[in-house]
Order: sequence, then C-alpha cells, then structure tokens
Amino acid sequence: MSAHGHIIITGVSSGIGLAIARAALAKGYVVQGVGRRPPEGLEDHTNWTFTPCDLTDLPAVDKLVFHGGANTILVNNAGTLGPVAQSENVTAEEISACMLLNVTAPMRLTARFLKEVPGEKQVYFTGSGAAQHTISGWSAYCASKAAIHMYAEVVALEYPDVAIHVFKPGKVDTPMQAQIRNTKSEDFPSVPHFIEEYESGNLVDSNTVAERLLYVIEAQDKPSVVFPISQIKLIS
Ligand SMILES: NC(=O)c1ccc[n+]([C@@H]2O[C@H](COP(=O)([O-])OP(=O)(O)OC[C@H]3O[C@@H](n4cnc5c(N)ncnc54)[C@H](OP(=O)(O)O)[C@@H]3O)[C@@H](O)[C@H]2O)c1
Repeated sequence: MSAHGHIIITGVSSGIGLAIARAALAKGYVVQGVGRRPPEGLEDHTNWTFTPCDLTDLPAVDKLVFHGGANTILVNNAGTLGPVAQSENVTAEEISACMLLNVTAPMRLTARFLKEVPGEKQVYFTGSGAAQHTISGWSAYCASKAAIHMYAEVVALEYPDVAIHVFKPGKVDTPMQAQIRNTKSEDFPSVPHFIEEYESGNLVDSNTVAERLLYVIEAQDKPSVVFPISQIKLIS
C-alpha cells in the first residue's frame, strides 16, 4: 500500500493522462491506467498496472476491475474531439461515438466507482472551456463536455463527502491539439487561431497540468466543482 493511495486514470497512452500517470508514480501513488493502448516506458514500474479497455465498449466498462483500497482517486480523462464539421454535416454515428466516450463511459465508471470502491475517494474529470464557450465546428465536443461538467455538478451535490471536480486544462500541447491544427477551416473556422497559439508557444505543457492536478488531489481546501487548472498556484 502506498502512503499516497491509489489512482485510476483513463486515457493514459498520451497527452494529459500520460502526464498524470507519470507524475502520480513519481509521487508514490499506485497507478492503474485504463485505455485502448498502454503508454510506453511505464511497464517496469512496480506501482503501475495497465488495464486494457475500449471505453466505448460499455459491457467492457461494466466489467472493469478497479484496483484500489482506502483513499482511491478516479481521473476520467480519456476523450475524443469527435467530429469536426458544421452541424448539418455531422452523422448520428459520429455523435454517438463522441457521447459514448466523453459522457456515457465516465458517467458509468463514476457510478460504479462510487458504489463499489470503499472508503475515502475522489473523482476528477478532464473538462474543457468548450463546455462553456461556443466553438463553431465542435458541436458534439462542446455538447459532450457541457454534459460532463453538469454531471459532475449533480454528483457533487449528491455526494457531499466525496471530492468531485472537473478541471479545465486550457489549450494543452497534446496529440489532440495536433489533430485540431490539422482540421480544415471550412469545418472549423478557428483553426488559424489554434495554429497561432501553438506557433507562439502559448500551449500549456501537460506536465504542468498534471502537477497542478496532483496538488489539488492532495489539498485539504479544494476549488469549486468546475475549475480552471490555471487558477491553481502551487505553494511549496
Ligand atoms: N489538449 C487540450 O488542449 C485539451 C483541452 C481541454 C480538454 N482536453 C481533454 O483532455 C483529455 C485528454 O486529451 P489529450 O489532450 O491528452 O489528448 P490525447 O493525447 O489524444 O489523449 C486522449 C486519450 O484518450 C484515449 N482514448 C481515446 N479513445 C479511447 C477509447 N475508445 N477508449 C479508451 N481510451 C480512449 C486515448 O488513447 P488511445 O487513442 O491510445 O486509445 C488517449 O490516451 C480529453 O478528455 C480532452 O477532451 C484536452
């Protein structure tokens, strides 16, 4: 048993999830990564396990075995940008796939986690500013993140003794941002802005997000249910 406890993170093959996994291991947590692909470089770590699971496969989500004990933290991080297109060009299949990964899977995992994992626990979601700002071409993504923000608000109301939070990471330098920069401006008119942000060095480092999230996880005084990670100032 680690002094820090257990942390379960979805979507650990790259980006923010991988950074959280690395930072948590470095701090002494026992980490269970969940996703379709394992990350490279963690396989020899004694406190690391990887549970393969395509989170769009709901029967598999319901069979997932949580590794944890007293003081377990769930970080619902896996996500997809979904279809990038003006709304009339988005198909039912694309909407469903986006909602399944960004909304249904984290809701179902959280429900099971609250019911099945005993003792002290915390739940985090990787949210987005896109939940609160309208972005042309991202109808499914914006709607999915708005849904998970509101879900977290409701669950926080229902379980006042459990820390339940959504962190908005800002524009983070991950494969998802590379995907954004590669979309067509007729589908996503803001693409020049995202390219400019990248070329100006304005993207946040995923390690900074991870460091601040772990600070919040360990803090007695928590921020509001939905909070921007940029608001977190590390006090050593
Ligand atoms: N980057 C940003 O600027 C930004 C801003 C706001 C919010 N976010 C959110 O941050 C989270 C992480 O994204 P990221 O930026 O770090 O991008 P990323 O590197 O593309 O990470 C997405 C993760 O989700 C996993 N994933 C995708 N489909 C999956 C599935 N069906 N089952 C299980 N895992 C799946 C991916 O793994 P595999 O593809 O290997 O399975 C990957 O590990 C997402 O929820 C995203 O919406 C990102």
